[in-house]
Amino acid sequence: MQKKIIILASGNGSNAEKIIDFFESSSAVKVLSVISNKQGAGVFDRAKKFGVPAVLFKKKSFETNEVLSYLEELKPDLIVLAGFLLKIPKEFVLKFPNKIINIHPALLPKYGGKGMYGSNVHKAVKESGDLKTGITIHYVNENYDEGAIIFQAEVGLDASDCPETIATKVHALEHQYFPQVINQILRK
Ligand code: GAR
Repeated sequence: MQKKIIILASGNGSNAEKIIDFFESSSAVKVLSVISNKQGAGVFDRAKKFGVPAVLFKKKSFETNEVLSYLEELKPDLIVLAGFLLKIPKEFVLKFPNKIINIHPALLPKYGGKGMYGSNVHKAVKESGDLKTGITIHYVNENYDEGAIIFQAEVGLDASDCPETIATKVHALEHQYFPQVINQILRK
């Protein structure tokens, strides 16, 4: 049976696009839709380019039953957070155990938790003086960035790298690995 993915994304959507592109001609996996909480987010145009429906839900709809009902109706095999910045309510985790995954732009457990997203993470890495960073793909539980780790990959940093350069290196890793890791999870 064909496996179904729903992507949640709040921003630019470059990871969402890589995932959609990876599975576009797959008969085994289909990206059903993209959900975003941010009006005008880049992810809408990216999804449209591939003919994947992108739906806007206000923040409040994640706290009421609206988004949960939408998800339950579509019965996804995997819910993928690709730059999704709202906290996933506990009810989602209970309804979709081990079916929600997130990508984090650092090597968890370092640089995780509330407020640690996107450029905030890369700035913190820069300030720490660490000479490596990376990506973490993990299951989502009721706490930010604390679910079981599925996959990590590292990249070396130069002392002169600015946060923007760190972000570019991390995005390259994300684009390289995220679709493949999703594919592996769905094949299990
Ligand atoms: C990605 O780097 C992702 O790891 C990060 O947001 C970026 C979204 O980029 N997610 C988090 O920081 C979650 N805590 P994109 O919109 O271009 O895919």
